[in-house]
Amino acid sequence: MSRAGLEKTPHEVASMFDGVAARYDLTNTVLAMRQDVRWRKLVAEALDLSPGQKVLDLAAGTGTSSEPFADAGVHTVPCDFSLGMLKVGNQRRPDLPFVAGDATRLPFADASFDAVTISFGLRNVVDVDAALKEMHRVTKPGGKLVVCEFSHPTWTPWRVVYTEYLMRALPSVARVVSSNPDAYVYLAESIRAWPDQRGLAARLRVAGWDDVAHRNLSGGIVALHRGYRR
Ligand SMILES: C[S@@+](CC[C@H](N)C(=O)[O-])C[C@H]1O[C@@H](n2cnc3c(N)ncnc32)[C@H](O)[C@@H]1O
Repeated sequence: MSRAGLEKTPHEVASMFDGVAARYDLTNTVLAMRQDVRWRKLVAEALDLSPGQKVLDLAAGTGTSSEPFADAGVHTVPCDFSLGMLKVGNQRRPDLPFVAGDATRLPFADASFDAVTISFGLRNVVDVDAALKEMHRVTKPGGKLVVCEFSHPTWTPWRVVYTEYLMRALPSVARVVSSNPDAYVYLAESIRAWPDQRGLAARLRVAGWDDVAHRNLSGGIVALHRGYRR
């Protein structure tokens, strides 16, 4: 199994990430041209947590998405269902309490976290709506969700350059750095098929999140969505 298709199964997704785990962070940095560092800082700012509060970083992969808030003293639980990604995460950051778990059946009690966040993970979850409801269940009343995900550039000329040229070039660039370049064909396909900013906001509301809003980053290549559990 080298890559998942859009009609993916959870097993295909987990094995695809097992296959890219070894060079996942390197490939990301090259493909995102270090923009990912800024996007991750903005996730921490949007979470706005204090040291000692507890956050679930879902689909945390190798734990890179957890670092900005974990390193600021927030009690961070990185959770993922790819054992390959978790293994690399454990080697990189043995200080973080990685947990194996599926986003659609989280191994946590109701209202366990002050906040839940998911970076570049929700698009890969087979049942997105079930995951949004699970995240709501494990968040304390008054707590927050922050979703960081690829989205749709808002300025038409930029959207055309991005989808027609940059996205098509992605697998060729990934061939040079990734341990599984085919996975980056899936990345481009899944970004194209993902709902736009308003579409994702509507899905958050249906799952029970209140006061939903979003902010575009890098012209809408990425969007941060937030919601609260009342
Ligand atoms: C692109 S990586 C993102 C990793 C990390 N959050 C980051 O920003 O670098 C997506 C992750 O989602 C995880 N994932 C996908 N579906 C999942 C599910 N149902 N439950 C838990 N993790 C899942 C994959 O295993 C993978 O590690």
